[in-house]
Amino acid sequence: MTANRTIGWGMGALPRIVRGEGSYLYDASGRRYLDGSGGPAAFSIGHGNREVNAAIAAQLEQVACGYRYLFTSEPLEQLTSLLRARCGPEFEHIVYSGSGSEAVESALKVALQYWDARGLPAKKRFIARERSYHGNTLGALSVSGFLERRRPFEGSLLEVSFVSAANAYRPLHGLAGTALAGALADELDARITALGPEQVAAFIFEPVVGAAGGVVPAPEGYAQAVRAVCDRHDVLVIADEVMCGAGRCGTWRALEHDGIVPDIMAVGKGLAGGYIPLAATIFRKELGAAILSGQGAILTGHTYSGHTAACAAGLAVQRIIERESLVSQVRIRGASLRRDLREALQRFEEVGDVRGRGYLIGIEFVRNRATREPFPAERAVSRSVGAHALEDGLICFPCAGNVGGVMGDTIIVAPPYNAREAELSELIEKLAAAVERTLASGRHRS
Ligand SMILES: Cc1ncc(COP(=O)(O)O)c(C=O)c1O
Repeated sequence: MTANRTIGWGMGALPRIVRGEGSYLYDASGRRYLDGSGGPAAFSIGHGNREVNAAIAAQLEQVACGYRYLFTSEPLEQLTSLLRARCGPEFEHIVYSGSGSEAVESALKVALQYWDARGLPAKKRFIARERSYHGNTLGALSVSGFLERRRPFEGSLLEVSFVSAANAYRPLHGLAGTALAGALADELDARITALGPEQVAAFIFEPVVGAAGGVVPAPEGYAQAVRAVCDRHDVLVIADEVMCGAGRCGTWRALEHDGIVPDIMAVGKGLAGGYIPLAATIFRKELGAAILSGQGAILTGHTYSGHTAACAAGLAVQRIIERESLVSQVRIRGASLRRDLREALQRFEEVGDVRGRGYLIGIEFVRNRATREPFPAERAVSRSVGAHALEDGLICFPCAGNVGGVMGDTIIVAPPYNAREAELSELIEKLAAAVERTLASGRHRS
């Protein structure tokens, strides 16, 4: 049985999923798919994990959900202390939710409420970056520099100011290294000054851009430079780690790599690894203290915030990640996975860049490797690679629009942290075959 609609992977109809085990998913016709990206980089420990399922089932046997304003619970308390330990002593407050978009939405609201509680209610504006994605609710979409996803809603979105993307492969003014980080920080500085620091609540960015850029790690020195600019102007820093955090990039917080601590952080996806929807907005002690002492309550969250069974799922997933040292494995194996992918793909002139951190890897396709000219959008190169891979039983994540919002083709590779060596080899082999088939059919057409 199939659903009758077309999706981004280029299929005419969707297969019906029936089972998941480890790094593989199975459809109703018995076809097997290797999870090379978990859809959009979500499934941190693979599928069908018995320990996680047992923890959820045990919780459901007791009680599914204690409403957050009436009860606390053991899974909620234990997950909260685990996350505090992972994130570091600066953080204390956590607002749970069910999706990355909600976590970003809460991050924006916490920033606004903090300034209001501090007696600075004029600090209402957000600055975000071009080529970014922060979610699909109106607030989160407002701070997203993602043309295709914004277009039908323009006019109803918040007024947000956008600065340049921080992309070492497609750099501002052709700059490199510290000059690039410096120029981007100067641009942010000038923007805050132009808007008036007394109007600006926060700067939001993805430490490693996901779908909007096809995995774009911040250039060296960038995060520290923007942190310094924001500190100078009393502007909060929001790190959207929904895709790149929770260990995906080889450190639990993605920004650990860059040596900075944000004021507010959004995490999702890998937190409960898809077993039950779970996301979190985690913020510094002093923000929560100012809000609570001034206004008594943090005015964000939803009916199912801190859902007990979802917290049990997140706790079980995070305990496995810790017990099996999966974050350091991702850091170490991620570097060699990038190298292996580069080696496997270098024979294709059209592969311009293989980049990333940990198990969040992006492959960018270009018409001309020297000039980095993208393919015309109509060629749909990334979608075609995704479709060929899927035909061959590999799930990877095709993204488009990283160049100017329309052109640009990338593929995201983001396997489970505990994928086996043989599975990573299968991923590389099948991806190279999908690229080969895509490019061969394109050459034939032109
Ligand atoms: C960086 C980032 N932020 C926010 C979101 C929104 O998360 P969700 O789809 O769970 O609402 C995503 C989703 O892909 C994301 O990649």
